[in-house]
Amino acid sequence: MKDSAGADRNPISDQMTDKNKRDWSEKDLKKHIVDQRKFLWRESTIERIAAWLDLKSGITAVDLGCGLGYLGWTFWKHFGNDSTYVGVDCSMKLLREAKEISTGWSEGGKAWFLNGSAYSIPMPDECAEWVMCQTLLMHLEFPEDTLNEMIRITKPGGVIMCMEPDNVSASLSIPFSSTPALSVKEKLEQFKMQLIWAEGRKRLGRGDWGIGAKVPRMMADLGLINIDAIHNDTPYFIHPPYETEYQEYRINKMRENIKEKDEDTKQLLRKRYKECFLAGGGSLSTFYRYVKSVESRQEEWETMVLEQLENRSYFQGAGGSHFFCIRGFKPGRD
Ligand SMILES: C[S@@+](CC[C@H](N)C(=O)[O-])C[C@H]1O[C@@H](n2cnc3c(N)ncnc32)[C@H](O)[C@@H]1O
Repeated sequence: MKDSAGADRNPISDQMTDKNKRDWSEKDLKKHIVDQRKFLWRESTIERIAAWLDLKSGITAVDLGCGLGYLGWTFWKHFGNDSTYVGVDCSMKLLREAKEISTGWSEGGKAWFLNGSAYSIPMPDECAEWVMCQTLLMHLEFPEDTLNEMIRITKPGGVIMCMEPDNVSASLSIPFSSTPALSVKEKLEQFKMQLIWAEGRKRLGRGDWGIGAKVPRMMADLGLINIDAIHNDTPYFIHPPYETEYQEYRINKMRENIKEKDEDTKQLLRKRYKECFLAGGGSLSTFYRYVKSVESRQEEWETMVLEQLENRSYFQGAGGSHFFCIRGFKPGRD
């Protein structure tokens, strides 16, 4: 098999063989795909996406990098009757759990789980009406190859759906909040550091943080038609008295993040950040200068936020994630 640059490589590029890649069954990451998923898409947006995709019952749907099967249970009521959902993932641990959970949501159809690589999906050509993924391409070194595989297993006339963020542009939005504002100089420095880090992450093969914005073009280059996208419509507003479940979740999460971060986790995050920053072209001296200035402010900020969370006066307003649901159709046979 060839990669996008034409070089030979192992088609089973399972992430667990690479020590740089993340094991999503690991406690904190798994928590992310459980907790954060509860508020990821509004129910009304899911309804709109289901209609826009023209989902029907009696189909085969494949979810690549399925994790715990979020896309299966989220869309089930729109396609599940007499249908087969196939979740594919490289983590056996997650698949075992996904299978167990699926007994609670897959009534009226079937939910199957397959262990396999996103670079070599263990399924035959043209076997599914709907092939999808969510936050998978953003973690892959060769996302086009995976998209190609998704197209291979889609029936002519079938639809490919990718839910992927553009975190690079989202990271440029700094919230208006009850904590002191950064100066223009500090904001610019923060943007610069983020851009260098994201560039390094890509260069190290850890995935493109801005992939969401690029998927429509990738789909067009690979021959899909009728390509369109829907934007996630959940903004990051948190305001006392925190009347929605989502706001309550966000403030608890902030509290947890501040309280639970131990020294080992901080060191690990710093190490990973440094690797990407240097790979992105940043210098060691800039990295240490930045870390020093951030750390001196961080403790003060955390104390202030905890206090505001305790007396329920913390607020913030930000545009939300730049998260897209992108679809493209495989041309039908004439
Ligand atoms: C961010 S999680 C998303 C899980 C799920 N789609 C969701 O939205 O909750 C990424 C998933 O992709 C899987 N994954 C990452 N690289 C993969 C690869 N090369 N082949 C197959 N699965 C992969 C991980 O094990 C993980 O379950």
